[in-house]
Amino acid sequence: MIEDNQSHPMLAVQNLSKKFGKHMALDQLDFFLHRGEVVGLLGPNGAGKSTLIKCIVGLLRPSEGEIRINGHIRGSRVARQMSAYVPEIPQLYGMLSVWQHLQFITGAYEVKQWEAKAEALLKMFEIWDKKDEFAKTLSKGMCQKLSLCCGVITDAPILFLDEPMVGLDPKAIKTLKDLIRQLKEEGKTLFISTHLLDPIEAVCNRVIVLKRGKIIAQGSLAELRHQLGEENASLEEVFLEVTADV
Ligand SMILES: Nc1ncnc2c1ncn2[C@@H]1O[C@H](COP(=O)(O)OP(=O)(O)OP(=O)(O)O)[C@@H](O)[C@H]1O
Ligand SMILES: [Mg+2]
Repeated sequence: MIEDNQSHPMLAVQNLSKKFGKHMALDQLDFFLHRGEVVGLLGPNGAGKSTLIKCIVGLLRPSEGEIRINGHIRGSRVARQMSAYVPEIPQLYGMLSVWQHLQFITGAYEVKQWEAKAEALLKMFEIWDKKDEFAKTLSKGMCQKLSLCCGVITDAPILFLDEPMVGLDPKAIKTLKDLIRQLKEEGKTLFISTHLLDPIEAVCNRVIVLKRGKIIAQGSLAELRHQLGEENASLEEVFLEVTADV
């Protein structure tokens, strides 16, 4: 595994813009994630959440700005090795088995002695009995569970989860919440885009709210409540308030 350089933030995004043709999907974003933080990325449909995550993990080229993972420029070999990405829609190989996916990803990330952890993850998400089945035979929720297991097994210090709860049943959402807490205890940094505010409220240190490609609010829930002068507001109420059109 690649060494974590403590003198750099885990993620630094500076003056980041992304245009698709004339459409400004991300507009001059600036923010940092510090090691060990769990940060929720919120925003209405089309706000730019997936575009932002894809720019960070090197799948889209920013139009402007700079992104560094623990000091390493986005898309570089070290930056990629340090980041795990669980996409919005699982990207699996239909003709590889569940177990072969984990074999493949641990090979790519050079993770040693991964088997016991892989078994524990598959059992945790109750897909251990599917370990020798082809991915193309899995249900939607099972694909999402495998995609999460592939992200976590990398042991990368920073994880980007794009709507990880979509397709999961209530028990699996609870499992994922527990797993996020466990990863936080291990010192991992997590950046989680989601529309499900209740589960995220329980596990996040702070949230960043995007709207039309701009950061319109960020901070801990307590800070956002304070800014709005609504000391008892839920995350849902805060979200609806900050994203409301004036
Ligand atoms: N490849 C692309 N080409 C052109 N426009 C794109 C492309 N990808 C995203 N966009 C546009 O950029 C904007 C942001 O899209 P994005 O997928 O990042 O939103 P999101 O916040 O993830 O939304 P959702 O909550 O629906 O997942 C949208 O207007 C979308 O149409
Ligand atoms: Mg999205």
